[in-house]
Amino acid sequence: MLQQLNLTFSPQADFAAYVFPEPQYLGAKHQLVSWITRYIPSDASIVLDGFGGSQSVAFAMKKMGLQVHTSDLMCYCHQTGQALIENKNVRLTPQDVELLFAENPQAGSLMQTLFEGVFFDHDDSALLDRFRANVQTLACSCKQALALCVMNRALTRKVIMGHFAHLQAIPYANNPDRVRRNPSIARPIQNLFLELLPDYHAAIFDNGRDNRSYAGNILELLPALSNVDLAYYDPPYCNSHSDYQAFYHLLETFVEYWPDKQFRGGTKRYHPPRYSGFDKKKDVRESLHRLFQASADIPTVMMSYNCRSYPDINGLVEIAQRYRHVDVKEKEYRQSRGGKGSVAGSREYLLICGK
Ligand SMILES: C[S@@+](CC[C@H](N)C(=O)[O-])C[C@H]1O[C@@H](n2cnc3c(N)ncnc32)[C@H](O)[C@@H]1O
Repeated sequence: MLQQLNLTFSPQADFAAYVFPEPQYLGAKHQLVSWITRYIPSDASIVLDGFGGSQSVAFAMKKMGLQVHTSDLMCYCHQTGQALIENKNVRLTPQDVELLFAENPQAGSLMQTLFEGVFFDHDDSALLDRFRANVQTLACSCKQALALCVMNRALTRKVIMGHFAHLQAIPYANNPDRVRRNPSIARPIQNLFLELLPDYHAAIFDNGRDNRSYAGNILELLPALSNVDLAYYDPPYCNSHSDYQAFYHLLETFVEYWPDKQFRGGTKRYHPPRYSGFDKKKDVRESLHRLFQASADIPTVMMSYNCRSYPDINGLVEIAQRYRHVDVKEKEYRQSRGGKGSVAGSREYLLICGK
């Protein structure tokens, strides 16, 4: 394997030349980043992406030379944050890669127990258990995060539809018509990982600032941050594919590798889920109020929203206006990008909230 791997990279003279590796994440804003970031005030220096997800907006902010704090409720999103936003220059060597896929008698069997025959065959499930144990032997937390982040992306390529809220992965991977349309679903996971790794390596750079990634509820993080000039919020679009834990539970289980969780239903989703506050109608209004209250010290708050969300845009603006002056920008999705929130013809909003 060592001889086949070319992990060389060339630093770019200009941060703008760094390319965010194409994500497959519901609600990701990678195709809207230039529209979003153009509204960041030119005097902003320290910024927060409070619902980082794939990290596409945090990455665009890093490219602008800003000091970035990025955060997400989910630990697998934080791994991407650590690998691409916080990380200045750490990459995997060919020896690291060799180690990641090596046999490991200490490996556990969680992925095989839960997901063999559901999302993966025996060889791929066993590989994931081995890989997960080997991640812990990498020299630093940046390397560990990078390995997990690239493997998580490989898993969203491997499984049809790029999420884990269905039971079609194995039937589709065994269906020649489906495989012809999407060959990735029949490829070995190791192969997908090795193909993706160079794009991730090429996206690692030092923008001269100390950027940080966090895992946890944004409402608990905000009191611990100071001197933030701008916060960008992209909460789940409540009412339209907002349950990220149903879609990506497998990635969280892979990263956390819980010894003592319950796993429920056909997809073996972990239980209890983390509390979001933004994904259920009964909670979301109060959470939005709390978000604006906890952001009171931040001069500019920007928020992405969509016409299919609850509350509707007028309801959201009413809440925001209790705390701030609000300007609403609007854009129509010309093409669907996955998820009910981004179907063609639906409208994307950006609230720019000053004091
Ligand atoms: C619409 S997605 C963000 C997409 C992101 N802007 C991107 O470009 O990929 C919403 C994210 O909010 C996260 N989330 C949900 N509740 C949260 C909370 N209370 N605090 C922080 N993140 C939360 C979800 O895990 C999900 O990744």
